[in-house]
Amino acid sequence: MSIEEEFERVGLVPVVVIDDARHAPGLADAMVRGGLPIAEVTFRTEAAAEAIQAMAQNKDMLVGAGTVISVEQAERALAAGAQFIVLPGFSAEVVEFCQQRGVPVFPGTTSATEMMAAIKLGLDTLKFFPAEANGGASAIKAYGGPFGGLRFIPTGGISAANLAEYLALPQILAVGGSWMVPQKKIAAEEFDEITELCREAVSLAQELRK
Ligand code: 3PG
Repeated sequence: MSIEEEFERVGLVPVVVIDDARHAPGLADAMVRGGLPIAEVTFRTEAAAEAIQAMAQNKDMLVGAGTVISVEQAERALAAGAQFIVLPGFSAEVVEFCQQRGVPVFPGTTSATEMMAAIKLGLDTLKFFPAEANGGASAIKAYGGPFGGLRFIPTGGISAANLAEYLALPQILAVGGSWMVPQKKIAAEEFDEITELCREAVSLAQELRK
């Protein structure tokens, strides 16, 4: 199964902010138990690369890197075992680097100009970030006119409360968010609660996709 197919199957891409890589194995187990074996580990903490390496040891997990803003970070993420790369914005340089390495890459876009630049590089699946601050589901619906061939992973400001608006749209591959893996619960090692939050998120996503 391709990474895009796995995103679509689950319907969610959890965004993980982890401050201490020692929490990574417990977090990966908790997410697998909760039926949500995908993590976009953000490169905005010092622990990110080590956490990717540790989570990727769990063979049931699909682990990628998020908040990647430079080729140097992308290199570190791949060396740590990241299976996909997510950018908060559009960078042709980082996209082309990932393409040369044969790694799925999902740059963030919010404008028609960025979407056109992404299409030029052969991409058809993009992050839409920050989603709520940029018009949310109605903006993505509007982009579906000119950009019917694109699929989006909206992220930023999405939770169980507004998930339905996004999953109702055919051009949404999966929805990204941190609500089921709260940074504070990771830091406090509240893994049973994380498992429960993952379970709830998965069952809601499945329900809304029916
Ligand atoms: C991201 O990096 O994609 C966002 O910070 C996740 O957004 P959320 O915390 O609002 O879900």
